[in-house]
Amino acid sequence: MLVLQAVLALVPLVLSSGLVAAAPSKRHGSSSSSETTSVYDRLGNLAPYHQAPVPSGVHEDLPSDCTVDQVMLMGRHGDRYPLGSELVYIQGLAYKIGNATAAIKKAKLPSDLAFLKDGYTTKLGTNDLTAPGRQTLFDHGVAFRLKYPQFNATAILAGAQDRVIESAQWFAQGYYGRIWPNISSTVFSTIPEDDVTISWITPMDTCADWDYNYGNNATITWGNVYLPPIAKRLNKAIPGVNLTTDDVHGALYACAYDLAAWGTSPWCGAFTESEIADFEYELDVLMDGAFGYNLPGKMGPTLGALYVDKLIERFSNKTGDAEPIYLEFGHDTTIDMILTALGLAKDTPRLSASGPVPAHRKWRTSEQVPFGAQMIWEKFSCTSSFEGPQIRLVLNDAPMPLTFCETHATKEYGTCAFSDFVKANAFSTSITWGDAAWNATCGASDF
Ligand SMILES: *[C@@H]1O[C@H](CO)[C@@H](O)[C@H](O)[C@H]1NC(C)=O
Ligand SMILES: *[C@@H]1O[C@H](CO)[C@@H](O)[C@H](O)[C@H]1NC(C)=O
Ligand SMILES: *[C@@H]1O[C@H](CO)[C@@H](O)[C@H](O)[C@H]1NC(C)=O
Ligand SMILES: *[C@@H]1O[C@H](CO)[C@@H](O)[C@H](O)[C@H]1NC(C)=O
Ligand SMILES: *[C@@H]1O[C@H](CO)[C@@H](O)[C@H](O)[C@H]1NC(C)=O
Ligand SMILES: *[C@@H]1O[C@H](CO)[C@@H](O)[C@H](O)[C@H]1NC(C)=O
Ligand SMILES: *[C@@H]1O[C@H](CO)[C@@H](O)[C@H](O)[C@H]1NC(C)=O
Repeated sequence: MLVLQAVLALVPLVLSSGLVAAAPSKRHGSSSSSETTSVYDRLGNLAPYHQAPVPSGVHEDLPSDCTVDQVMLMGRHGDRYPLGSELVYIQGLAYKIGNATAAIKKAKLPSDLAFLKDGYTTKLGTNDLTAPGRQTLFDHGVAFRLKYPQFNATAILAGAQDRVIESAQWFAQGYYGRIWPNISSTVFSTIPEDDVTISWITPMDTCADWDYNYGNNATITWGNVYLPPIAKRLNKAIPGVNLTTDDVHGALYACAYDLAAWGTSPWCGAFTESEIADFEYELDVLMDGAFGYNLPGKMGPTLGALYVDKLIERFSNKTGDAEPIYLEFGHDTTIDMILTALGLAKDTPRLSASGPVPAHRKWRTSEQVPFGAQMIWEKFSCTSSFEGPQIRLVLNDAPMPLTFCETHATKEYGTCAFSDFVKANAFSTSITWGDAAWNATCGASDF
């Protein structure tokens, strides 16, 4: 019954906007006046799902004479609890606040920090999908069914990590209904996420020279720049607590992860917009450093090439067994590596971990890889608007123009003739896992 009500509640949103999960009221019901939509939308890859901005001058919908013939979804798992490595910062913060109870009780706090009078404790878990994450993926399953009624997916593939599998399952509930595990023609499969399984969902795991520290080091560098002034401000505002920069980091994580787990956080209102913008930049340089353009040499495009190759193989039906629809689930990292192989969202000059924050940067994890991110590829054909098969990328409910092959005719829609798309991605199609080019970038794998 609850599920049915959820579906019915969604229908008017779908009809009015076509964007189920972008419902602006979702998770914005907090009482703190500082907790605005703009804060929630600026939490980088830890932001709740929201529609990406539609680039100005680009039509959101295809011309009416066009039909989508084939579609591929790469979905990110929904909102999750913090990773263990992140939770320790939040717990450290809670300990500090607890330890300073007496001083805080006596202090006169600004209204945005008044919640501390009641203390701050945390019951966040680790790693797994949260209730809002379940909701997001269920909503996306419903929306996908309504958006592409002409297709009936017969397979779902998920990276074999619990939150990804559970996300795919909730999507399937929304898409098929509760009978889905019993639809005999539907295959639910998983692909291991480890260092011996070649996968376009987790290609970095089979690249021996890839190192998460490429991104993590950027985080540390930028943290040393932007966290100390916040610590100074908060320590002035909260007498007797003596927060370290790690505690401040914990408070920023608390904002993002309380929101991801409980739908609200008192900490989001404790920061200024520019402080949140600095945190957002941390998440951007982390992802760009570990899964994007700031990886050394050609590593970023090489990793993403595995997916781009698969896309081209399927959309050209190279093996003769292409399906009309593919539903696949992975990570923010998956999508970031794909964008990097395509040369999209690329900043010149590169993002610098020592700042300053470029206001108009193209690489924005808030817009590209929030929780529940949806990278949707459409192959389509038209009776008059375009000649021959075309391709479009819809990322988080907004077209993302394929700028590398846009001609005058396709510019308004951000689309590309499929043949031009293939030509533009010759770098990707020239690479296969374990060939000379892969090995030159990734080093010899140990298996
Ligand atoms: C907690 O409070 C005690 C007693 O005032 C103090 O000795 C200790 O250093 C404090 N710990 C932290 C982490 O602030
Ligand atoms: C999709 O396929 C399943 C299994 O064959 C079938 O039960 C269902 O009615 C189909 N749905 C649509 C919309 O075609
Ligand atoms: C799926 O099939 C199993 C075995 O026949 C049955 O026990 C179960 O109730 C079915 N579930 C649904 C949701 O139809
Ligand atoms: C990260 O920084 C540490 C300490 O400066 C350094 O030893 C390490 O090589 C760096 N790792 C990467 C992948 O850049
Ligand atoms: C605050 O903490 C730092 C590092 O933990 C310590 O060096 C400093 O003495 C503390 N300051 C106060 C006023 O307690
Ligand atoms: C791919 O080619 C095969 C063989 O011609 C055909 O049966 C199948 O429908 C094609 N797939 C798509 C998605 O067009
Ligand atoms: C790449 O390295 C793998 C072992 O890691 C090896 O099996 C393969 O032959 C290498 N490829 C080339 C083209 O040398």
